[in-house]
Amino acid sequence: MISVKNVHKTFGKNEVLKGVDIDVKRGEVVVILGPSGSGKTTLLRCINFLEKADEGELNIGDISVHFRHATRQEILRVRRRTAMVFQSYNLFNNKNAIENVMEGLVTARKIPKGEAYETAKKELDKVGLSDKYNAWPSQLSGGQQQRVAIARAVALNPDVILFDEPTSALDPELVGEVLSVMKSVAREGITMLVVTHEMSFARDIADRVIFMDEGAIVEEGLPRDIFTRPKERRTKQFLDRILLKDEYVKDDYAI
Ligand SMILES: Nc1ncnc2c1ncn2[C@@H]1O[C@H](COP(=O)(O)OP(=O)(O)O)[C@@H](O)[C@H]1O
Ligand SMILES: [Mg+2]
Repeated sequence: MISVKNVHKTFGKNEVLKGVDIDVKRGEVVVILGPSGSGKTTLLRCINFLEKADEGELNIGDISVHFRHATRQEILRVRRRTAMVFQSYNLFNNKNAIENVMEGLVTARKIPKGEAYETAKKELDKVGLSDKYNAWPSQLSGGQQQRVAIARAVALNPDVILFDEPTSALDPELVGEVLSVMKSVAREGITMLVVTHEMSFARDIADRVIFMDEGAIVEEGLPRDIFTRPKERRTKQFLDRILLKDEYVKDDYAI
């Protein structure tokens, strides 16, 4: 469904991605873990050309492009197949919830307004916001804003949704509602590439977990294998730090 091969990206003298390969099959949920600064955001941004990688190739469905040599046309085609959910929601503050969901459908996808309105309503209903169609972002909690952002991504019906730490800007009591919406998106069979530190999500939902450090993949595997018997020392050190804060997962895997 989506594969990236040999992605390299350097900022100045800082080599941030050192040849990353990732394959995600249709309907698969892949979680990327890794310490801050390991290149996770840059990788997602390269995949939808918010950032231009120096080397590497991308395949999405039947599209095959080279990151550095992609034409404008190819970049647009890739963007039409992907959607991104950001840490900071990135809603338009001058549009209400339903207009935020409609925006990409109308402007990028050229879907008639009436049809886009119906799709937007349906997607907002699915994330539990049927009473918030006309609310402005400023009137919504962080959790509700992120649910609008997820509805907006799903409405575009992309081949893959890229999530970049979608819950890390939220107050702790709002994390659960966003994770549960993400779980229901996963259950719909939507292909997801998710950067998150939420171990319970990785454990319950991920088909595969990838651990990245210093711009490269250190190891990958089934969540259970990665969490209980990581092969690499760096993975273990990272998990020990994170799991200390996440007793729920730790206890579950204790035996
Ligand atoms: N636009 C940019 N210009 C210069 N350096 C950047 C830019 N974006 C990211 N970096 C650097 O790339 C490295 C990886 O960052 P990032 O991809 O955000 O990591 P992560 O998401 O894993 O925390 C960091 O050292 C960061 O400072
Ligand atoms: Mg990041």
